[in-house]
Formats: sequence, C-alpha cells, structure tokens
Amino acid sequence: MYMKNEKIGVYPGSFDPITNGHMDIIIRSTHIVDLLVIGIAVNAEKKALFTLEERSDMVRNDIKKAKSLLKSKIEVVTFEGLLMNFAAEAKANMIIRGLRAVSDFDYEFQMAGMNARLEPDIETIFLMASESHQFISSRFVREICSLNGNVSSFVSKNVLNKLQNKFKVA
Ligand code: PNS
Repeated sequence: MYMKNEKIGVYPGSFDPITNGHMDIIIRSTHIVDLLVIGIAVNAEKKALFTLEERSDMVRNDIKKAKSLLKSKIEVVTFEGLLMNFAAEAKANMIIRGLRAVSDFDYEFQMAGMNARLEPDIETIFLMASESHQFISSRFVREICSLNGNVSSFVSKNVLNKLQNKFKVA
C-alpha cells in the first residue's frame, strides 16, 4: 500500500550474497525514505552462486535480525529486466546505491547517467560505504570462502552458513 507523498527508495543489487556492507546501506537508507524496496536482480548477465530464492531468503533473514535498527518499511522483491521499469512500477522517487572505492565510480556514473535518461524523474543517490565496510564485496566474499578463507567479519552468521554449505567448507 503506497501512501501519497511517501518517499520510496529502491535499493537494487545482485546480493550474491548480501554482505554487512549491504546491510549498512540498507539501515542508513531507512533513515531517508518511508519505504525501502530492496530489488534483487535476476541479472542474466551474471552467473550467480546462489539462486534467486536463496539470495532473497538471506536478505530477508538479515533484515529480520537488524529490525531494531530499521526506521522505515522494507519490502524485498525480485525483478527481471530493466531496473528503471521496476523502479517506475514501484513508484520509486529514487534509486539508492552504495559507493565504496573510487573504482566503483566509473560503473556507477555510467549506470546513473543512462538510468536518468530512461526515467528522468527518478534520481539515483549514493551513500558512501561506512569506514568499516569500505572493502567488502560479494565477489571477494565468494572467492575467499571458496578458497577456505575466513569471511565471518564480512557477512552475517546465516550467510556464512549458507556459503560454507555451498563450498562444503568444514
Ligand atoms: O549488486 P550489483 O551486481 O552491482 O547490481 C547491479 C544491478 C542489479 C543494479 C544492475 O545490474 C541492474 O540494474 N540490472 C538490471 C538491468 C538494467 O537495468 N540494466 C541497465 C543498467 S544502465
């Protein structure tokens, strides 16, 4: 149910898997919108480690754990196809993306620019990753775990379990 004048933000991503860095952005986003729609992309371009259902379940689980820190309503939704079509259907005012190192900038700059042309009324806003989460990426979490490294400071206990099951790490 959407209320008039409600600020709606879409936080899109692959979430393969959700990390503490994503959770930090989610928590802070709930301080600036009335409804945060987390959009988990099917993403035909990328071969995901986890299924869409597994990725959604992990996001839902982490959100439940952080409930006391969340200041707005949250919906977790999967989407296929264009982000801006999804955002328009969700009646979003803004897309929220996290920015870590300078290396993120080029990709994000291009994406925000092209998305703005597709839906000029939907702004992309960026939240800088908090200091302690500057270097976390799902890609390296997957790689480190696959090589038997310790990723417990990058993801929740639940995600850690799911990763260990995937890679059958003892
Ligand atoms: O977490 P990620 O992998 O950096 O998220 C990337 C995501 C899902 C936001 C991006 O791939 C995306 O928007 N995919 C949907 C397809 C789309 O709209 N492509 C045009 C981008 S300009």
